[in-house]
Amino acid sequence: MPDIPVITVDGPSGTGKGTICSYLVDWLGWNFLDSGALYRLLALAAKRKGIQNDDEAALVDLAENLNVEFKVAGVGALVDVILNNEPATEEIRTEECGNAASVIAPIAAVRQALLSRQRAFHKEPGLVADGRDMGTVVFPDARLKIFLTASAEERAKRRYKQLKEKGISANLRDLSAAIEARDERDSTRSASPLKPAEDAIVVDTSLLDIDAVVARITELVRKKIPGLPEK
Ligand code: DC
Repeated sequence: MPDIPVITVDGPSGTGKGTICSYLVDWLGWNFLDSGALYRLLALAAKRKGIQNDDEAALVDLAENLNVEFKVAGVGALVDVILNNEPATEEIRTEECGNAASVIAPIAAVRQALLSRQRAFHKEPGLVADGRDMGTVVFPDARLKIFLTASAEERAKRRYKQLKEKGISANLRDLSAAIEARDERDSTRSASPLKPAEDAIVVDTSLLDIDAVVARITELVRKKIPGLPEK
């Protein structure tokens, strides 16, 4: 097996993982795995089929047979997502779908069913993997493991701003409560809880703007993976 480099970017939502991954993929020209999109797609497919959140057997069956395609759509809009031959890019990005994904994600058998699908993204010339357990479970041998954090308050503010910019009305207090509830579910589950790998580098983005985060990540990547192209 050739040593194909992997960079994992884990952390809760709203820490800037998506932006950082899009930057890395653009710079390095590597493959990209948006593992959250897989959990979101599974939640959406289950909703469309009327499968309940606690119907483990049906969810596992669905996960094993999920008909999905990811199409690279350029920087900033990294992937177009197709579910059963229909676009699902917008629909999986709603708060509702993110929360539904977080409710089915604790099921160990569901996570197991998605494992080989995620590892199939590990191809030449390299992989950038975005998620919660990329460095701990899915790619434990990754060359560089980054764990992004930020305070729940700051993440709620960022999400609020994003939604406003898209013309979607939102309530900061409700968003904050939903983010805290999701963090709690993702971090306290027994199967692959959200936590930094022992060898991960933790970057707190609460007080950093995106340019400062990009500069820090660039420095880390250059240190761990020599001989990379200029940006
Ligand atoms: O990153 P995201 O917001 O798209 O993820 C949606 C949910 O999916 C997240 O709250 C928990 C779950 N998830 C997970 O359990 N493991 C991953 N590797 C990625 C996402």
